[in-house]
Amino acid sequence: MTEVALLEVRNLCIAVASGGALLPVVEDVSFAVEAGRTLGIVGESGCGKSLTSLAIMGLLEGSQVRITAGEIWFAGRELTRLPAAERRAIMGDQMAMIFQEPMTSLNPVYRIGDQIVEVLRQHRTMSRRAALARAAELLALVRIPAPEERLKSYPHQLSGGMRQRVMIAMAIACDPGLLIADEPTTALDVTVQAQILDLLADLQARTGMAVVLISHDLGVIAETCQTIAVMYRGRVVESASAAGLFAEARHPYTRGLMASIPDADADCETLPAIAGRVPRIDEQIGGCAFHPRCPYAASRCTLETPVTATYPEDHFVLCHFPDEAAP
Ligand SMILES: Nc1ncnc2c1ncn2[C@@H]1O[C@H](COP(=O)(O)OP(=O)(O)O)[C@@H](O)[C@H]1O
Ligand SMILES: [Mg+2]
Repeated sequence: MTEVALLEVRNLCIAVASGGALLPVVEDVSFAVEAGRTLGIVGESGCGKSLTSLAIMGLLEGSQVRITAGEIWFAGRELTRLPAAERRAIMGDQMAMIFQEPMTSLNPVYRIGDQIVEVLRQHRTMSRRAALARAAELLALVRIPAPEERLKSYPHQLSGGMRQRVMIAMAIACDPGLLIADEPTTALDVTVQAQILDLLADLQARTGMAVVLISHDLGVIAETCQTIAVMYRGRVVESASAAGLFAEARHPYTRGLMASIPDADADCETLPAIAGRVPRIDEQIGGCAFHPRCPYAASRCTLETPVTATYPEDHFVLCHFPDEAAP
């Protein structure tokens, strides 16, 4: 890989302050995404996906959760050391984020049009009239019918899928180089989910933006991403090209996630899931954090933290016995 990544996260660590102690929630996470490409981050709920994306956006400051080590490089600048004002200027302009539940990000008491105008005028010098015209264009771009009419709607007058489209319109308002979509379709039914993923791919093709798509569902990630990072309990346990991962997943957790993708053709009702759950951050687990749930766990896995094994074609695995799980 010779291309310089637009976003590169290097050895990121995040901890939560709890009763005088710092509990690690994200540990040594590294990944990169180039302009025009999509990186998928997948893992069950509680694995640290959202905290990682909030850290990239600079939205952790002032809370009990903070970055304790690592670097976040964006368009040639290291963000964790940037002054807050410069950081804010980048957020919403050069990088933007959409969340699972658009109702929490849309203000219920303002019309859609006014909210988009507000975003535009925060980052661009433009008249209200020009901003309203641009807002209508943006609604058309996210395929909302009768955009001029819709500018006057309040969030509660729209369906969940339409609200997510409005959020996407606000996110791309300033033509960001990077869009982080954190579970953008999780609250939506399957048909609308497919439409939103298709819309994101279409917008990416038009604008050339980089996308980080986060989901607990490997099925969602599989369709749109060129590279995939699998997270478990705050760590990237496997990363590879999408093709490489699907051809030869090596981490038992990744293989468990794959086995859990519903098969549209199968008529069985139950999904083979991974037994057990993601440990809480205050639960101490020695060795590999996945060992209590791993079918291949040996005594070494309970004692030693694995180090990353590297395979050709940028395929990385954090496992003591990666070849046990390989097909
Ligand atoms: N503000 C917070 N204070 C304390 N713990 C938190 C906070 N936010 C997240 N966590 C914990 O950090 C872990 C990772 O959370 P998160 O990044 O939201 O996971 P994901 O997005 O993968 O579901 C979880 O165990 C969660 O309970
Ligand atoms: Mg999350």
